[in-house]
Amino acid sequence: MVMLANLEIPVEAPFTPEQRGWLNQFLQRELGGGGAVAEVGYDKTRPFPSAILDNYNLNDEASGKETRHVALSLEGSGLEYEAGDALGVYPRNPPEMVEEILVALDLDGAAEVPLPDGGVGTLREALETAYDVRSLSAKFLAGWLARSGSEELRGLVEAENQEGLGEYMWGRELIDLLLEHPVAFADGADFVSVLRKLQPRLYSIASSPKAHPGEVHLCVGVVRYESHGRKRGGVCSTFLSDRSGDQKPGVFVHRNQAFRPPADEGAPLIMVGPGTGVAPFRGFLEERQATGATGRNWLFFGNPHAATDFLYEEELTALLKGGVLSRLDLAFSRDQEEKVYVQDRMIEHGAELWAWLEEGGVFCVCGDASRMAKDVDAALHKVVEVHGGMTAEAAAEYVKGLRKGKRYCRDVY
Ligand SMILES: Cc1cc2nc3c(=O)[nH]c(=O)nc-3n(C[C@H](O)[C@H](O)[C@H](O)COP(=O)(O)OP(=O)(O)OC[C@H]3O[C@@H](n4cnc5c(N)ncnc54)[C@H](O)[C@@H]3O)c2cc1C
Ligand SMILES: NC(=O)c1ccc[n+]([C@@H]2O[C@H](COP(=O)([O-])OP(=O)(O)OC[C@H]3O[C@@H](n4cnc5c(N)ncnc54)[C@H](OP(=O)(O)O)[C@@H]3O)[C@@H](O)[C@H]2O)c1
Repeated sequence: MVMLANLEIPVEAPFTPEQRGWLNQFLQRELGGGGAVAEVGYDKTRPFPSAILDNYNLNDEASGKETRHVALSLEGSGLEYEAGDALGVYPRNPPEMVEEILVALDLDGAAEVPLPDGGVGTLREALETAYDVRSLSAKFLAGWLARSGSEELRGLVEAENQEGLGEYMWGRELIDLLLEHPVAFADGADFVSVLRKLQPRLYSIASSPKAHPGEVHLCVGVVRYESHGRKRGGVCSTFLSDRSGDQKPGVFVHRNQAFRPPADEGAPLIMVGPGTGVAPFRGFLEERQATGATGRNWLFFGNPHAATDFLYEEELTALLKGGVLSRLDLAFSRDQEEKVYVQDRMIEHGAELWAWLEEGGVFCVCGDASRMAKDVDAALHKVVEVHGGMTAEAAAEYVKGLRKGKRYCRDVY
């Protein structure tokens, strides 16, 4: 934004420091101090178009999983982050899905429609970049019932049949709804009036800015599944894996002050990050290495198979060899008959884990919130109980104390 006396002139994008300096000199010279270039940063409402520098699969081709290492450029954005922060990414919907919707609804993709944040665009562009053309919700189904008059939907919506609604929605998307319960929209504007805005997705940052100046790295688990006879994919993870090409996704930094490497550089750090949960810990280790932190570092990592799913294997084994990682405990869940998870390794090495905690250790967990984080929490309580010689109640108090002292932090989703 350029300020001329009291006049604010908005410009397309924030200035680089050089551009700002040059403009300020110009305004000073021409207006005798009557103008200035105010600092305007990129954020959630003004995402930075970021070039993709690297994008590859961390799993072996033979794996059932696909987890991508994605490196993005922050050059010229003025965006700053710390290890532990997350990056917001604005995806684009698949053009084939948009085309299928346009055909099913017999709508003209070139027609102008309003965009969620104001302004207008073509219907095709709006459906690709600005509106959610996948997700269903109870409210959305109620709106669809009003337009379609479908008896099946009426049975689910009007009976407030939560279980039936959930069952109907699981594995279904907008395309299924509009094929199964057709609705005639007057035009593109009528159609987008029922849609929600396409939301950005958050990813734990997998790098330290000290190790990769001007870059930000992500570790993205690609969501693919089949349901109701269709192959489907998560919008953002498949955008990053399949459709980002030479595009520049809009990104912003999402601060996570409560999730940081220990402020005390001598404090031991215990990290539990199975699957994509390893992401922030790559950043923490890079940070501890770059700052020469003297505290010991212990990582628990798990995934289905050692041969195909050992994410960042080379880097982690090099860090172990070089002494940045003092311990690396692995839980490859499907390499033996009985499943082995990170919390089993915590229990196995409980005496040492207890010793690290007693030395002022900071305990951090990242990854699946629905099951893993709960089971790891239970294992932490068990370790404190058994090796600290405490009752369950006393162990719970001890763990509460860790949280209060900011020595138990979680980034779970
Ligand atoms: C703070 C935070 C940090 C995160 N960090 C990371 C990270 O580091 N790495 C990472 O990979 N993710 C991370 N996530 C998750 C990430 O934000 C996205 O949720 C994830 O990538 C999926 O987004 P998507 O757009 O690909 O899928 P979406 O389009 O959002 O689709 C996901 C939806 O698909 C449906 N679905 C998925 N599988 C099935 C199935 N088998 N059957 C039926 N339906 C199914 C479910 O409804 C699910 O909610 C993080 C989330 C948060 C909040
Ligand atoms: N919103 C989304 O659609 C989406 C997309 C991507 C990631 N995520 C989130 O990110 C998490 C990480 O995904 P990811 O694919 O990298 O890894 P993941 O599914 O969490 O799997 C990583 C490892 O954890 C194991 N595991 C399963 N249950 C566990 C438990 N209760 N406790 C400890 N370990 C357990 C898995 O074993 P087994 O598989 O052999 O049981 C596997 O070895 C997901 O679980 C999910 O919460 C969400």
